[in-house]
Amino acid sequence: MSREIPPTTMHNGDPNEASLSRSSSPPMEQILQVRLSRRDTLRGGLGFAASTLFAGAGLSGCSDGSDATGGGPAAIELGFESIAGSSADTISLPEGYRMQVIIPWGTPITGSFPEFAPDASNSAADQAQQVGAWHDGMRFFPMGEGEERHRHGLLVLNHENISRNVFFPGSRTRNADGLPTDPDQVRKEINAHGISVVELQADAGGSWEVVQSGFNRRITAATEMIFSGPAAGSRFFVTPFSPDGTTARGTFNNCGRGYTPWNTYLSGEENIQGYFTTTESDPPREKARYGLNRFGFGFFWHGPAGQPGEVAGEFARFDTTPTGSGPTADYRNEANGAGWVVEVDPFDPSSIPVKRTALGRFRHEGVEPSPIQPGRQIAFYMGDDAQGEYFYKFVTAASWDPDNADPDMLDNGTLYVALFNADGSGEWRALDIVNPALQADFADQADVLVNTRSAADALGATPMDRPEWAAVDPVSGEVYLTLTNNTNRGRPGEEQPDAANPRADNTHGHIIRLREDSDDPAAERFTWDIFVFGSNASADPAFNRSGLTLDNEFGGPDGLWFDPRGILWIQTDNGAPLDSQSNDQMLAVIPARLAGERTVNPATQASLKRFLVGPLNCEIAGADMTPDYRTLFINIQHPGGGSSWPDGGDARPRSATVVISRIDGGEIAL
Ligand code: FEO
Ligand code: CA
Ligand code: CA
Ligand code: CA
Repeated sequence: MSREIPPTTMHNGDPNEASLSRSSSPPMEQILQVRLSRRDTLRGGLGFAASTLFAGAGLSGCSDGSDATGGGPAAIELGFESIAGSSADTISLPEGYRMQVIIPWGTPITGSFPEFAPDASNSAADQAQQVGAWHDGMRFFPMGEGEERHRHGLLVLNHENISRNVFFPGSRTRNADGLPTDPDQVRKEINAHGISVVELQADAGGSWEVVQSGFNRRITAATEMIFSGPAAGSRFFVTPFSPDGTTARGTFNNCGRGYTPWNTYLSGEENIQGYFTTTESDPPREKARYGLNRFGFGFFWHGPAGQPGEVAGEFARFDTTPTGSGPTADYRNEANGAGWVVEVDPFDPSSIPVKRTALGRFRHEGVEPSPIQPGRQIAFYMGDDAQGEYFYKFVTAASWDPDNADPDMLDNGTLYVALFNADGSGEWRALDIVNPALQADFADQADVLVNTRSAADALGATPMDRPEWAAVDPVSGEVYLTLTNNTNRGRPGEEQPDAANPRADNTHGHIIRLREDSDDPAAERFTWDIFVFGSNASADPAFNRSGLTLDNEFGGPDGLWFDPRGILWIQTDNGAPLDSQSNDQMLAVIPARLAGERTVNPATQASLKRFLVGPLNCEIAGADMTPDYRTLFINIQHPGGGSSWPDGGDARPRSATVVISRIDGGEIAL
C-alpha cells in the first residue's frame, strides 16, 4: 500500500411526513427515531423533519428477545445473493443493482467552482472550494417535503486523510531536512482534510447531481472552531491564537460520524498524532499518551513556518515543542485542541463548528446515538481506535425533549468507559472528577477530559482490539462495536487474550455486542457477547469461530451501520488476506432475526451476505440511505496501489461516494 503512515494506523423514516403522537400506543412502547430540524424548532413549529416509528420489541420489555420480529417491524429478509470476493479494480454488486459514482475528491462545490485538474495541479484555494480526499463517515440529511426527501438532501461527509503520492504533479517541495517548503502545497493538504457539506438532487431517472447551493461548504484543518463543555476556556487550550482557550483552528483526521436528533452532524477526530509534532524528550501525558512524536505521519506542516505570508502561525502551530516563555508564546498546547468530537449544523452554512469537550479526547471513530426516545437520556457510543484502547459512552444529563431541542445536551452529561468482565457482564465507569479514583492524578474535569485515556487507565478499563465504529440496533437497542484487529495481542509484553478479545494475533478482528441493563442508555451495567469473528474461510475452526465461508469471509471490520429497518451493514478495512484475495467489502446481516442466540454464534454463516466489493486497495467507509430505503450512499476511501478508480486509464485514483439503487426501483437489500 502506498499510504505513508505507520502500520498500526494505516487502515486502516418513513418517507412521508408522519404525524407523531407523543403518547405511545399501548401495549408496546414506541421507539421514536426523530430527526428534528433545528430550523423548524427555532420557528417553533412541529419540527419533525422526518420520522420512523418502530414498535420496540426488545426495548419495551414486551418481548424476551427470542422473537424480535413479534410486534415489531414486519419481518424482512435479505433478498440478494452473496457476491463473490473480487480483486478487480471496480465495484461489484449483486445482480439487479446499479451504481453511480459522485463527488470524487476535487469535485467543485463552492465559490468559483474550480474544476478538478486531472494532473492534480489545483491550488490550495481551488482545494478549499472542492470536495476533500479520503471520504469516510457520512450522513444524508433529507430536504423538502414528501417524496422530494428521497431525492434531495445534504450529504455531509468526512475527509480523513490524503494520499500524498497522488496529491501533486511530481512530489512535494522539500528542504534538506525533508520538510515541505511550499506554503501553497501545505495549505492544499490542509484544505483536503475536514468535512464537506454537499447539496444533492436526483433527476427523474435517479441520477444524482451536485446543486450549486449556498448550503455547500468545506470545513478544513484550518477552519476556526469553538470549544464548548467542561474543558472550554481551560489552560489546556491557551495558544497565541486563543489566549483565553476558547477557540481552535481546524479539524483533523475526521473518521467516523454521528448525528443528533436536532439534525446536526458529528465528526470524530481520529489520528491526531499524525499532524502535530514535538521534539520534547519527556512530553506531558496529553501528548505522550496520544502518541505525539517528532515525525507524525510525515506531514510536517510546520515546514513553511516563518515564510512571508504565513498568517498567525498557520504553519508554526503544527510543531508543539515549547520554545517560548509560555503557552501564548508558542504552540505547546495546539494538539490539545485535536482529538475531539466536532458538531456541525449543515443547515446553517455560517455556523461555527463546535468541539464538544464533554465527549472526551481520544482517537475518535464513530459517535453513535442510542435510540432517540422522548423523555429518555441519549447515550453516544464511541470507540478509540488503537491497540489496547477503550470503548466509551457519553450520557446526556437531560432527557430528550423534541419540543425543546437543546444542542447543549452535548455539554452536560457523563463520560463513561467500558469494563468487560469474563462472565459476560460489564460495567461503565464514570470519567468524572468526583470519582475518588481520579482525584489523585487529575486537577479538574478539564484535566480528565483532555487526558481521557489516562483517566480511563486509572479506572481499569478493558483494553480492546482497536475499537472502531459502534452501531445501535433500532429493533433491539443492542450496541454493536467493531474491533478491527490487534496483531500484537498475545505477544510477550503486550495485552494477553481475554474474554472480550479472545484471539491472540487477532488479524481479522471481531464484532462485540452489548445490551444495557433495563435497556436504559444511562445504565451503568450491561451484558455482552461476541456477534461474529472475522476470518478467512480456510482458517482453523479455532480461529474461524463463526464458521465463515468463501461467501462471507471478511477481515478488518471497521465502518458499522444499522439502517432504520434493522439491517446491519459491516464495512471492512482489511489488513490480512482472505482466501479469495478480495478487496475490501461491505456485508449485510439482520441480527434481530438471531436474537435469543446469545453465544458465539455460527448462525451468521447463513445470513451474513457480501453485498459489495470495492476497487483495489480501498477501504469501504460511511453509509446512509434516503428515507425510502431505495438509494444507498457509501464511500470508497483511498483506492490505490495500481488503482485508477473511478476514472480509469492512467488517472490518479480518487476517493468518491457511490450511489447504489435497484434497477427495479425496490428497497435496497430486500
Ligand atoms: Fe479512521 Fe480507525 O479508522
Ligand atoms: Ca480502520
Ligand atoms: Ca480509514
Ligand atoms: Ca475507521
